[in-house]
Amino acid sequence: MSAKIAYRSGRLEVPDHPAIPFIPGDGIGPEVWRAARPVLDTAVRTSYGDRRVIDWFELPAGQKALERGDDLLPRSTIDAIREHRVAIKGPTMTPIGGGHRSINVALRQALILYANMRPVRYFEGVASPVKDPAALDIVIFRENTEDVYAGIEFSAGSAEGARIGAALAAEGHAVSEETGIGIKLISRSGTRRLVRAAIEYALAHGRRRVTLIHKGNIMKATEGAFRAWGYELVRESYAGRAVAQPDLSPGEEVGGETILVDDRIADAAFQDLLLYPARFEILAAPNLNGDYLSDACAAQVGGLGIAPGANIGDGLAVFESTHGTAPDIAGRGLANPGSMILSGSLLLEFIGWPDAATRVVDAFAGVLRSGRMTADLAAGREGITTLDTAAFSDALVEEITRSGPAGAADA
Ligand code: NAI
Repeated sequence: MSAKIAYRSGRLEVPDHPAIPFIPGDGIGPEVWRAARPVLDTAVRTSYGDRRVIDWFELPAGQKALERGDDLLPRSTIDAIREHRVAIKGPTMTPIGGGHRSINVALRQALILYANMRPVRYFEGVASPVKDPAALDIVIFRENTEDVYAGIEFSAGSAEGARIGAALAAEGHAVSEETGIGIKLISRSGTRRLVRAAIEYALAHGRRRVTLIHKGNIMKATEGAFRAWGYELVRESYAGRAVAQPDLSPGEEVGGETILVDDRIADAAFQDLLLYPARFEILAAPNLNGDYLSDACAAQVGGLGIAPGANIGDGLAVFESTHGTAPDIAGRGLANPGSMILSGSLLLEFIGWPDAATRVVDAFAGVLRSGRMTADLAAGREGITTLDTAAFSDALVEEITRSGPAGAADA
């Protein structure tokens, strides 16, 4: 009998047969989910035998929900995710115009999924534009609910825009009628919960450095405050476990298990990530900078199409492929299921089944290393065996099965 995951006293309680919802999504979504599911199930079975099994069940969203006469993101879907705590989703199309909000944005807001987590690492065999792609191995925590990117905007010439313009004029900032206005909000509580998530991840995963990324030199009240509030949190809540870089004496090193929290101005961070990638471990960034950084870093390791992601709140998480619905290749066996599969691995790790999570990543790395790839990664390269979506999934299942039965499975 499957049961729901619970969340008590700040901890997830995961039964051996958790009921976990999935949203296959639109376009290539259903085919990448069909490819991902057996890989995840095989990893769980190989790690834990019959003791553990995920009872997946489908929730409607996107085109499928519209066709049933429902909303793009039905209320019942949001409620079911909240109730089951963890979900995985494929890409969903956003109808253009007509007041439709992106499902992802709506989900993040409804469930307060305040941190977007994106691990970025290199997989041997993948073509990369840099000389030493393996030197970059980071996890980006991007604030998900605030910043100019949260969408508080007023069009030029609109009545609302004129009212905001008048309020700004009263503060001495003249705004002409032909100006669109976007408002940037960064709060202390929003910053602290994001930075806390990044530090907690670092502590749990043996990472030693968390870097706050900001443009505080220019936007002092928002991005500068992000930096200040991040350091404030370190001093208040992590004494003895983490240290704020400004508090170090000149030449002082951080030793032992202590995490160094430092900061970098965003433009310099983009340079340094290319020039000195090994200096970075965990990044914590406001929404817009985090958005740019996530794709730039994924591109650096050649992994833009396979980067996994998760949107995380307190005791809640939605794991998702980071690409779109790719209508140009849907239904043709050309889709790379890597992003969905690696997102599934993050899900397994999140629910406390790291042995299964590792098997997924190891198998993925093994198949790519052997030169077997989907068409997007194989394009224009010599000596690569091109597999369709289903065959790539089969190769992973085989690789995991070959990795042998449960060894030192997690307690
Ligand atoms: P896209 O990511 O769907 O496609 C961009 C290009 O990348 C296309 O050439 C596509 O064939 C290729 N591509 C994407 N994923 C791939 C995969 N797994 N394997 C192989 N090739 C892949 O972005 P686009 O065209 O801007 O958006 C299409 C639709 O997807 C839109 O309706 C958009 O709103 C939606 N979208 C949804 C997202 C989500 O639900 N997380 C994220 C981004 C876009």
